[in-house]
Amino acid sequence: MERALVLIKPDGVERALIGRVIAQFEEAGLKVTALKMLKAGNDQVSKHYTDDESWLVSVGKKTKQSYIDKGIEVKESEREIGLRVRSFLVNELTRSPIVAMVLEGNACADVARKIAGATEPRKADPYSIRGRYSNDTYSLADKKQRSVRNIVHVSEDSTIAEQEIKVWFTESEICKYERPDESALYG
Ligand SMILES: Nc1ncnc2c1ncn2[C@@H]1O[C@H](COP(=O)(O)OP(=O)(O)O)[C@@H](O)[C@H]1O
Ligand SMILES: [Mg+2]
Repeated sequence: MERALVLIKPDGVERALIGRVIAQFEEAGLKVTALKMLKAGNDQVSKHYTDDESWLVSVGKKTKQSYIDKGIEVKESEREIGLRVRSFLVNELTRSPIVAMVLEGNACADVARKIAGATEPRKADPYSIRGRYSNDTYSLADKKQRSVRNIVHVSEDSTIAEQEIKVWFTESEICKYERPDESALYG
């Protein structure tokens, strides 16, 4: 089985969505194997959102595309956007408590990202967590000089998940148990 790291960001905690968010992952057959609430530090968030070039550029690409779709010209390079967003994310994720969890299941990261929805809530599927509980946009986030408030973080894939899990949990904090519905799900 694969694993994924999920963070309920400060906006999700403040809006009292912890239970609803966890329930959606659990209902899809993903098992919660570790869970904690914490006030994240700068170091932790900087390790989580690394300065990996391809991630910085991918953040910039998605943002630029959204502006181009609206007919708005963007002068910043993709990498510059990525760096700016990364510093917004450090501020946002350290400003108030978050909930961190590890999920386990078949195609875990892929399924959990589908449940989370697209990055920009305004464009996310209305049945996804981000589409259902938020209406934030890149342009509002830019105006407010903060990261997009989209309730959750979910690992991009299972390799990144393993790196991210190490930032927030020790292996001894991750529990092993069986859900009675596992044989119905995976048998
Ligand atoms: N242009 C932007 N302006 C502000 N915040 C952004 C922007 N692009 C992305 N973000 C924030 O950075 C987070 C990480 O970006 P990314 O990894 O591309 O998205 P995802 O969380 O969907 O994997 C997003 O969830 C969002 O909170
Ligand atoms: Mg991401």
